[in-house]
Amino acid sequence: MSRLFTRLTLGDVTMRNRLWVSPMCQYSAVEGVPQEWHHTHLAQFASGGAGLIIAEATAVAPEGRISPEDTGLWTDEQRDAWAPIVAAIRRRGAVAGVQLAHAGRKASTWSPFSGRRGSVPVADGGWATVAPSAIAFDGYAEPVALDLAGIDRVVADFASAARRAVAAGFQVLELHAAHGYLLHQFLSPLSNARDDEYGGTLENRARLLLRTLDAVRDAVPGVPVIVRLSATDWADGGWDPPQTVTVARWAADRGADFFDISSGGLVAHQQLTTGPGYQVPLAAQVRQEAGVPVNAVGMIDDAHHAERVLAEGAADAVMAGREWLRDPHYALRAATELGVDIDYWPPQYLRARRRA
Ligand SMILES: Cc1cc2nc3c(=O)[nH]c(=O)nc-3n(C[C@H](O)[C@H](O)[C@H](O)COP(=O)(O)O)c2cc1C
Repeated sequence: MSRLFTRLTLGDVTMRNRLWVSPMCQYSAVEGVPQEWHHTHLAQFASGGAGLIIAEATAVAPEGRISPEDTGLWTDEQRDAWAPIVAAIRRRGAVAGVQLAHAGRKASTWSPFSGRRGSVPVADGGWATVAPSAIAFDGYAEPVALDLAGIDRVVADFASAARRAVAAGFQVLELHAAHGYLLHQFLSPLSNARDDEYGGTLENRARLLLRTLDAVRDAVPGVPVIVRLSATDWADGGWDPPQTVTVARWAADRGADFFDISSGGLVAHQQLTTGPGYQVPLAAQVRQEAGVPVNAVGMIDDAHHAERVLAEGAADAVMAGREWLRDPHYALRAATELGVDIDYWPPQYLRARRRA
C-alpha cells in the first residue's frame, strides 16, 4: 500500500497523491504578468500526475519581487493572466496553489540567467528595498527599515493578493516565510534588530507572519494555507529548529493548515551540507514536536525515497523541485516504479504505463 499515492485533504481540497511540485521562480514574467512559458511549465506537471502544484514565489507588491521578471498578484491584469494557467492545471486533475511572497531585502536582484549578480540599480529598472532593519544581505543594496505604516501595507498587500489568487482559481495558498525573504527576515534575529513590537522576543519577531496569516485567512476564509518555513538559518545566533517548532504551533493555532519545511537563505555565510533528503530531519522534528502536518523537501528525487520518507513518519507529503524539471512526469514514473495503479494517467499516455 503506497502512502505516496494516498490522497490528502486540506479543508475542502483533496490532493490525489502526496508527491507535490515545489514553488520555482521562472524569472520570465513581464510586469508581474505570467506568460505562455508559465502555462506550459505548470500544466506539464499536472499532466505528469502531480497532486499539488505550487506556482512560483509571486509578489504581493512590485517592491516585493526578487527580480524584475517575477510574477505578481498586485494587479487585476496579473490575476486574469493566471486564470487560464490555473484552469489548465485543474483540468488535468492537480490542485493549483500559489506561493505569495515579498522578498524584502532580497528584492530587486538580477535574475540568475541575466549574467549579472547582486542588486539591480534603480537606473536599470531596480528599486529601493525594504526590510525589518537597515541590514543588507551580503553583497546586496542596503534596505530601508519598514515603519509601522509600511508593515500594515505589507499585511494588506498579502490579503489583496490572496483575494486575487482565489479569484484566479487557485485552491491553496502558500505563505513564503522561508529562504531569507521578508517574513523570514522578521523571524530571524540576524536580520531583525528592531526595538518595537516587531523585534526582540520571539513573539515580536513572529508578529508579522501571524498578522499576515490572520489577514489572509480573513480575506479568503476556508482556503487552505500552507506556511513555508526555513527551519534553520544554518548560522550561529540565527533562526533554529526550536523557534520553528514554537512558531509553527502558534501558526497552526491561528489556522495554518500545513507546513512546508525548508531551510536556509537568510545569510550568505550559512554552513550546510546538502545531500539526498538533507532537510527531512527538520520536517520530522517540526511534525513531531509541533504536532502539525508537514511536507519534506530537498533532493527527494526518486519514488522509493519519497515513499520511505512518508513510511518512516517523517512527513505527510513530499515536495520536489528540480526532479520535476528533469522529468515533468515524475509522479507517473513514480507510480510505475512503485507498481501502483493510478487512474489519472492521461489517456494519451496510457501505453507508457507499463514497461513490458
Ligand atoms: C529554479 C528554481 C526556482 C526556485 N524558486 C523558488 C521559489 O520561488 N520559492 C521557494 O520557496 N523556493 C524556490 N526554490 C526552491 C525549491 O522550491 C526547493 O525547495 C528546492 O529546489 C529544493 O528541492 P529540490 O531538491 O527537490 O529541488 C527554487 C528552486 C529552483 C531549482
